[in-house]
Amino acid sequence: MELAGDVRGATVLDIGGGIGSIELELLAAGAERATNVELSGGYEDAAAELIAERGVGGRIDRRVGDFVAAEVEPHDVVVMHRVVCCYPDVDMLVGKAAEHATRVLLLTYPRDRRVVRLGLRAINLWLRFSGCGFRTYVHPVGRITAAAEAHGLRLERHEAGSRVWESAAYRRMPV
Ligand SMILES: C[S@@+](CC[C@H](N)C(=O)[O-])C[C@H]1O[C@@H](n2cnc3c(N)ncnc32)[C@H](O)[C@@H]1O
Repeated sequence: MELAGDVRGATVLDIGGGIGSIELELLAAGAERATNVELSGGYEDAAAELIAERGVGGRIDRRVGDFVAAEVEPHDVVVMHRVVCCYPDVDMLVGKAAEHATRVLLLTYPRDRRVVRLGLRAINLWLRFSGCGFRTYVHPVGRITAAAEAHGLRLERHEAGSRVWESAAYRRMPV
């Protein structure tokens, strides 16, 4: 993840990290250790296989649960890749993630554009008719930034990665 910068020696917290590909990449780039807090338990078998394949079992701590309700220590680098769009309370999720980032917070979220909002609305309709309680959200970028800044971070870089997704790096300001 290019926006992370130099991660050598860093601790990484991957929130909603799924099977954990991002922390595996950051460990390969020199991060010291990683924690993955993932709401769904459905990734654990695949994640265990990947961890064994890479031989990094001693450097990854996987926890299943809602990060907003979890007790986790602060980490140098906090990552939320395509997670903000899966959680209704952006202030709470991004605020707590920012609070846990001692160095940098990296986010990828859906672009706040009409076409993206329409796409997610269609996905939500389909979810509703399929009887699934899960919903997707396009949170305003200003709200995401405000939540990060309320916890001492400043927007450092912002990139439109595709028509749908954009990424941002927020860095902790020296006190
Ligand atoms: C679209 S998936 C992205 C997975 C992974 N970050 C990736 O990019 O491949 C979003 C993930 O965020 C997780 N998630 C959503 N809200 C969460 C929360 N509050 N705490 C932990 N995980 C959460 C979901 O369970 C889901 O696995």
